[in-house]
Amino acid sequence: METSTVTVQAPATVANLVCGYDVLGLCLSKPYDVVEVSLINEKTVIIHPIEGFDLPTDPASNTAGAPLIEMLKLIEADLGFEVKIVKNIKPGSGIGSSAASAAGAVVAANALLGNPFSEHQLVQFAMHGEKIASGVMHADNVAPCIFGGVTLVRSTDPLDVISIPAPDLWVTVVHPQIEIRTADARRILKKQIPLKSAIEQWANTAGLVAGFFKKDNDLIARSLKDVIVEPIRKLLIPRYDEVKSGSIKLGALGGGISGSGPSMFMLSKDEVTATAVEAHMKSVFEAISLPHYTHISKINTAGVTVREN
Ligand code: HSE
Repeated sequence: METSTVTVQAPATVANLVCGYDVLGLCLSKPYDVVEVSLINEKTVIIHPIEGFDLPTDPASNTAGAPLIEMLKLIEADLGFEVKIVKNIKPGSGIGSSAASAAGAVVAANALLGNPFSEHQLVQFAMHGEKIASGVMHADNVAPCIFGGVTLVRSTDPLDVISIPAPDLWVTVVHPQIEIRTADARRILKKQIPLKSAIEQWANTAGLVAGFFKKDNDLIARSLKDVIVEPIRKLLIPRYDEVKSGSIKLGALGGGISGSGPSMFMLSKDEVTATAVEAHMKSVFEAISLPHYTHISKINTAGVTVREN
């Protein structure tokens, strides 16, 4: 029954960018998932099992399936989607694994249909995948994955995503092999914060956005501070302070927890610094025999890209 297929590369993303919990995010070039979506002529979504991972194939409980179910609600024609995913972004890594499945699926499905939906609508669909993964419709991974570059989610209801000029910076990511569930990492956060902390946090968030617009690396570095989330979540990541302070000593502008962790990221102004930071990150985790992966990439301004077949 298959009439046509679109394959996309759906990249990893770094959410929060230290001070912008649930609102800021950036898109990496690698790693990325490969998402293949085929059109079928029955109003349903079929999810194939993903090799190497025990993820649900019931579309309503799948991070790629739920967004496509939402999309189908707006389509009159009797059609549906069949989805195959090659997952290179490990679930629970903190670099937007669930977002990549969701964003990749909706971008591919939209392309199959001749792109009737806007990027904002695609983010809206994809947020239903995040609801499954974390219990919350946050968009700070799916927005940069779909828009590319750096994004600000000013509001999720109604959705308002703003593209921010991506700085010409390098990102080093380390993923220590422990798993932190986003839902758990959200549950441990305080529900109320002192006004003093809120003032500091929104000053830094505004400073970071201003730094991106002004291409001012010193302002970016000064603003990469989190007085609300990091002090709690960093306790879940072994050797967190050592990774961070050593990276900054080597010249990184700053960084912190990627999304809800356990991955950490650091921004650097050149590849040499990004590579030195990577070596430091590796040495810290090698010293405690904690297996880990690292990735170095520039900020990816393209987001999810359709592969030419
Ligand atoms: N903003 C979300 C959180 C991102 O920190 O919980 C999850 O990847």
